[in-house]
Amino acid sequence: MSVSRTAVMTAALRAAETARPDRLFDDPLASAFVAAVRAAGEPVVQLPPGASEFAAIRTRFFDDAALTACAGGIRQVVLLAAGFDSRAFRLAWPNGVRLFELDLPATFALKEPVLDGVAARCTRTVVPVDLRGDWSGALDTAGFAVARPTAWLAEGLLPYLAGAECDRLLATVTGSSAPGSRFVFDQLGGTDRPAIRATADAIRATAGAQLVPTVDDPVRWLAGHAWRATVSRVTALGEHYGRPLPEYVDRAASDAVALVSATR
Ligand SMILES: C[S@@+](CC[C@H](N)C(=O)[O-])C[C@H]1O[C@@H](n2cnc3c(N)ncnc32)[C@H](O)[C@@H]1O
Repeated sequence: MSVSRTAVMTAALRAAETARPDRLFDDPLASAFVAAVRAAGEPVVQLPPGASEFAAIRTRFFDDAALTACAGGIRQVVLLAAGFDSRAFRLAWPNGVRLFELDLPATFALKEPVLDGVAARCTRTVVPVDLRGDWSGALDTAGFAVARPTAWLAEGLLPYLAGAECDRLLATVTGSSAPGSRFVFDQLGGTDRPAIRATADAIRATAGAQLVPTVDDPVRWLAGHAWRATVSRVTALGEHYGRPLPEYVDRAASDAVALVSATR
């Protein structure tokens, strides 16, 4: 299970956000995933204060990025490390969207039974793979159309991969990206803030997964593969969404994560 346990941690944060009257998104399936994981006897990582505010803004950023890509004409979406992401079921996709969810088999073993009988709002295909390896063949076999521009979303993935694994992932994404594609991901820039160390400790202790800063400069990293990237920060996005981070949240820790949006 290990790193798949981080998926329910994110679902728990989304369930908490969904319960707020001023929520930045509505994810009614999140609490069902958490309940299913608890029923299976699996632990749910308890994160330090500030994590839910950070995660809500990050999720909204990815929601907006996905819908903006589709508004620009993209109809193929790939969720790299989908976890308990329920975007296929909760976003207002335009007609004709084909969405692929990639994650480890252990994640889908818990996820799919919860979704039994729930209708997706797009054409959804699950592809169980290890994203550290060679996964493009499995994606192609599942019906991915390499000639079509794609929106790739990797929310909460790169901080669990080593540098060489990130490089390999980027090479694979790039090799499957027709002109006009987009790649959106978050990248941990450092671990020196106490809030980040506390988060990393909780994830290691409960999920057995290691949170690591990998790519120093995501814009330059992407430029090396002909992607043009911009970086957003959580503090500014929270203000933009009308949900500024409360005083008790360590803003420097929140802003140590780059929210990266790239086009090709
Ligand atoms: C923090 S969760 C985020 C899940 C989802 N993107 C979300 O925002 O709800 C990290 C996810 O990365 C997945 N993951 C980590 N390493 C992976 C790997 N090598 N191959 C496939 N999935 C992986 C885990 O299974 C987990 O679902």
